[in-house]
Amino acid sequence: MKGQFVSRAACALCATLALFATAPASAQQKIKVGLMLPYSGTYAALGNAITNGFKLAINEAGGKFSGREIEYFSVDDESEPAKAPDNVNKLIKRDNVDVVVGTVHSGVAIAMAKAARDNNALLIIPNAGADEITGPMCAPNIFRTSFSNSQPARAMGKVAAEKGHKTAVTLTWKYAAGEQSTGGFKETFEKGGGKVVKEMTLPFPNVEFQPFLTEIASLKPDAVYVFFAGAGAVKFVKDYAAAGLKEKIPLYGPGFLTDGTLEAQGDAAQGLLTTLHYADALDNPKNNAFRAAYKAAYKTEPDVYAMQGYDAGQLLAAGLKAVNGDTSKRDALIKAMESTKIDSPRGPFALSKAHNPVQDFYLRKVDGKENKAIGVAIKDLSDPAVGCKM
Ligand code: BEZ
Repeated sequence: MKGQFVSRAACALCATLALFATAPASAQQKIKVGLMLPYSGTYAALGNAITNGFKLAINEAGGKFSGREIEYFSVDDESEPAKAPDNVNKLIKRDNVDVVVGTVHSGVAIAMAKAARDNNALLIIPNAGADEITGPMCAPNIFRTSFSNSQPARAMGKVAAEKGHKTAVTLTWKYAAGEQSTGGFKETFEKGGGKVVKEMTLPFPNVEFQPFLTEIASLKPDAVYVFFAGAGAVKFVKDYAAAGLKEKIPLYGPGFLTDGTLEAQGDAAQGLLTTLHYADALDNPKNNAFRAAYKAAYKTEPDVYAMQGYDAGQLLAAGLKAVNGDTSKRDALIKAMESTKIDSPRGPFALSKAHNPVQDFYLRKVDGKENKAIGVAIKDLSDPAVGCKM
């Protein structure tokens, strides 16, 4: 009896061992996703929206790939470039993640792209627009589902020139995103016959705007173009209106100025024009489904950051499906990711050779709690990808 029991137990063990021996080693392990995003500071709301959007897309894809579940590892990067190398190395070297997703701030993203290149780590950028990343730093293992900084800015420069403005002043935080944004605006505004008469900057994430507003009032340009996002955008739009400038000098920006911020900006934002690759009420089936699912899951409206996180999740899911969750099939995974067409809430898009979306930029107007698309400022805009060799 005892012998019979032992042999049955041994047999069960044999069967289990045989099963493990035939399944690929990777099928027994979870797929590790490192989320490196700001969860504190000026860009905290952006990091949370991206995380929500990413997880929504992964859950919609079934949450597992050939039996492999997703395990998340999170790091708050605080939008702090000095801490970025340590933070990203924790994910790549300590946690040994299969893919890193992040981040919002261009300066942090540049350090992440460097680490991804040095370690051949798969990186998906769901926001930060640093032009370098899809320029000289481009690499087969680096993808972006958002924009490059000069893209929305070039759309706005074109619109401002077409409106007949002859002079403009620019103001931004002094770091890659702000400088590349105001640079993109200047390029197309001046090409259209305008002149940027003054370029002003302040350190990130400083929000002492008063001296700049005083100078704008005395310079009296035809238009003002600014790059601010998150909590800084909320404060700037309110300060601009409170200084009495809103009715006198049109304020323009990339859509980050009014995205995810309208609740807090209230009347100060009404009527503002911005350009971006997304607008709240885009009436396409994917956007309607995305907005309904996001609202049901998180009890809040999605914004551009949630949408970009969602598309980062869709991009990864497309790659993982193509390799049946086997992340060791790196070349096939990358090939599937770079050739997929994403059915995005912004409208379908493909990636350029440098792995940046080729997409339309909408002209949007703030109306109540929504950024409403009132036209397309530039169609099918690719980023310049200057210096990208792939
Ligand atoms: C950036 O640093 O690249 C960035 C931050 C917030 C909004 C858009 C771009």
